[in-house]
Amino acid sequence: MQSFTYQCPTKILFGPRAEDKVAEELKTYGAKSILLVYGGESAKRSGLLPKIERQLTEAGLTFQVIGGVKPNPRLSLIREGVRTAISAHSDFILAIGGGSVIDTAKAIAHGAANPDTDVWDFWTGRKPLVKSTPIGSVLTLSAAGSETSDSAVITDEETHRKLGLNTPFNRPALAFMNPELTYTVPKKQLVAGACDILMHTLERYFTSIKAQNLLTDRVAESLIKTVMESVKVAIKDQQDYDAMSEIMWAGSVSHTNFTELGRKKDFSCHKLGHELSAMFDSTHGETLTAVWPSWARYVYQDDISRFAHFAKAVFGLEGGGEKELAEKGIAAMTDFFRSVEMPVTIPELLGRALTPEELEKLADLGTAGDTKKLGDFHPLGKKEALDIYTLANK
Ligand code: NZQ
Ligand code: ZN
Repeated sequence: MQSFTYQCPTKILFGPRAEDKVAEELKTYGAKSILLVYGGESAKRSGLLPKIERQLTEAGLTFQVIGGVKPNPRLSLIREGVRTAISAHSDFILAIGGGSVIDTAKAIAHGAANPDTDVWDFWTGRKPLVKSTPIGSVLTLSAAGSETSDSAVITDEETHRKLGLNTPFNRPALAFMNPELTYTVPKKQLVAGACDILMHTLERYFTSIKAQNLLTDRVAESLIKTVMESVKVAIKDQQDYDAMSEIMWAGSVSHTNFTELGRKKDFSCHKLGHELSAMFDSTHGETLTAVWPSWARYVYQDDISRFAHFAKAVFGLEGGGEKELAEKGIAAMTDFFRSVEMPVTIPELLGRALTPEELEKLADLGTAGDTKKLGDFHPLGKKEALDIYTLANK
């Protein structure tokens, strides 16, 4: 096993009525002025937002509210949230929603703590982030893992750039995780979320590190199997508490870096997917399954044994040579995505094939004009990114 550093400081309250502890926990944390961030109408419709507001009022805590976060969260609303947080002297930002709301809360937290810097500068790398405001979330959708992750992904809607920022300041202090709050998630988001969780694990499983890493491997394999099993149950009955709990917990475990310990993450499919979301506003999880099968077929010969091992450990496949087994494993993963009605090509994602010019633009933007490589297992320059987009475009 390789050396690693692991720190996941989020206090997690998991289970039915976890959200009833919001005011108590915020008080213990010392928060006095809270900014609540939410998305479209779902948090109001379910009664969750008014419930939290009531709790805060009864506990004598001051709060402001900003709503309207859209999927693939936009910079303009973040800037508005920063202004609100600064004028209200918010000392804690609480997200009520899924990954987009939590990432918006993270960005507002950074902007509010650094009033002299435009928040986008932290994402472009123009300014280093050295302080922020504490954040937490009441999670309503199991997917991005932002409730515990060190990452936040936001979109500048004017330039169509979708960028991620990894920093310890993105690690939330608190996460309230009640699986029952995810019963109302639309089926498409439930499945896309589960596939995002799978991808957070797959993108750490195929790695350039060859050292033995049994425990991390087996956690990853078990997580993948558990999510595949649970999402099949959840599709039939979204109020199955056990299935929804497994998916919710897997979402956090898959993106705390826990399934990466002792190795290196790849995340090239995420980078390829972010360009599709930035250009076409596509659902994050769907962009990932649209490119993964093509990525896997393009790179698997770099480490056939690893892909063959995956086929055995995750799908119980046997027989044939290693190459055949590796290919069967890729086909089995692709079949799973299909079986839950996720797109496995770009035309399935967008309803049409892209033009050569559009493919070129995606590859160019993703690799910053061929100046940066994507991923680690098989680092992708512009040519390789274009090859994979082209394969996925069939
Ligand atoms: O806006 P509302 O009305 O709340 O509806 C949302 C939204 O339309 C709905 N929803 C959420 N909870 C619901 C619900 N509807 C009914 N009942 C509920 N309980 O779901 C829709 C999608 O929400 P969104 O937050 O966009 O989904 P998700 O959690 O998949 O987040 C996706 C975003 O996270 C980023 C993605 O790129 C994307 O922008 N990611 C963030 C990461 C991170 N911070 O660590 C890592 C990921 O790889 C990912 O990149
Ligand atoms: Zn993701």
